[in-house]
Amino acid sequence: MDAQRLKDSFAHVARQGDAVALFFYSDLFVRNPQLRDMFPIGMSVQREKLLGALGGIVAQVDDLPSLVPFLQQLGRDHRKFGIVAEHYPAVGASLLATLKYFCGTAWNDDLAEDWNAAYTLVSKVMLEAANEDALRSPAWWNAQVIGVERRRFDIAMLRVVPDQPLPYLPGQSVAVETTSRPRHWRYYSMANAPRADHTIDFHVRLVDGGPVSSVLVRSLHVGDRLRLGAPVGTLTLNEDSPRDVLLVAGSTGLAPLKAILEQLARRPSPPRTHLFFGARTHEGLYDLEELSKLAMELRWLTLVPAVSDEPPGTLPGLHRAGTAQAEHGTLPDVVGRRGLWIDHDAYVCGPPVMVARTNERLVQLGVNRDRIRMETFAEAQR
Ligand SMILES: Cc1cc2nc3c(=O)[nH]c(=O)nc-3n(C[C@H](O)[C@H](O)[C@H](O)COP(=O)(O)OP(=O)(O)OC[C@H]3O[C@@H](n4cnc5c(N)ncnc54)[C@H](O)[C@@H]3O)c2cc1C
Ligand code: HEM
Repeated sequence: MDAQRLKDSFAHVARQGDAVALFFYSDLFVRNPQLRDMFPIGMSVQREKLLGALGGIVAQVDDLPSLVPFLQQLGRDHRKFGIVAEHYPAVGASLLATLKYFCGTAWNDDLAEDWNAAYTLVSKVMLEAANEDALRSPAWWNAQVIGVERRRFDIAMLRVVPDQPLPYLPGQSVAVETTSRPRHWRYYSMANAPRADHTIDFHVRLVDGGPVSSVLVRSLHVGDRLRLGAPVGTLTLNEDSPRDVLLVAGSTGLAPLKAILEQLARRPSPPRTHLFFGARTHEGLYDLEELSKLAMELRWLTLVPAVSDEPPGTLPGLHRAGTAQAEHGTLPDVVGRRGLWIDHDAYVCGPPVMVARTNERLVQLGVNRDRIRMETFAEAQR
């Protein structure tokens, strides 16, 4: 298998834009109409997911140490779509047909063999991981909504209880599917450390024009059913580290960091921890009241609220809780102003720009990249 040849041919194909995904899916569904129902009805946004990932992955096939864990995760994750071994050859055949078409005269038997070998290897790793996972875990967890708290028109806090316990680490996320948007799976981070009653909280912010967040935020009710995929993600606490902790949350990026905070609070002697919670407006600091109470109870926790788009002002309803003012500025600026973080482990979550800029700022301030763990909420959907 010639990895460079794979990379070059995929790069050439990818340059041909939207038509590639259109060809791939039409080929797949014409040859295998029964597979169409596995995919969302509207595919314009999601279209490149499978194909783009496939090509990208196969073209990295010479870097197995970093690829294999990713593929294992992907294979486990495909169980929730109902994908089994028999489906793989169909996708492989359409992938090869697509590559052949877009490579044109550059396509030959050697290239076909390379792609076939790469796809077979990738499928094998995914399927083995899926099969192994099937021995211990369900393909998805059914869950019921037991609480919906709308903090603003565009932010809801949900509480759900899965039919069977869902094991996860604070900081991780699960893909969620609602009955009213079948096959539209979206990731949401658990906002609490695992509890004895197995209930899970989510914080969801409405995204303009988004099909799933609009349902979760505006029309979900107690008693509604959801399906949850297996937990994913690496924004988890470095348990071996003796360092102090810096948590930086933009909007609902608070969810996984709140789970980590709860995990820290269960330690016999928690590290000194700073939590920066930022939004554009004071109103966007949707969980501030509860966080302020926590900060008053937990002597090792310092809470710094920040708003970027409004002048500094008194935070509504928070005098009792002791945090009367938010800092003015974007999170990277406020975090940068507030201290030296060289000795800290940093955990950053929120919209992509905020996460990227906070990361850059921390690195400029001398924080080692290895000590910064991040999650962005939008990118993984593309
Ligand atoms: C690992 C992970 C964890 C996540 N955890 C949470 C969470 O705890 N709470 C939460 O509210 N969201 C979270 N998200 C985002 C969530 O998965 C959805 O993308 C979001 O709710 C929008 O879903 P949608 O179907 O309404 O719109 P989508 O179809 O997903 O998106 C519509 C459009 O909006 C863009 N977009 C999506 N999310 C954002 C965003 N946050 N900011 C700006 N643009 C965006 C998309 O790129 C797309 O162009 C997480 C995402 C990932 C990858
Ligand atoms: C080598 C094999 C494969 C790779 C690398 C791959 C990759 C991917 C990726 C990266 C996603 C997006 C995941 C997410 O958003 O959580 C995805 C989604 C999906 N894949 Fe695969 N996949 C493979 C095989 C298959 C097969 C054999 C099927 C069977 C038909 C399949 C069906 C799906 C479906 C239904 C989705 C959800 C699509 C959506 O929500 O838009 N995949 N795949």
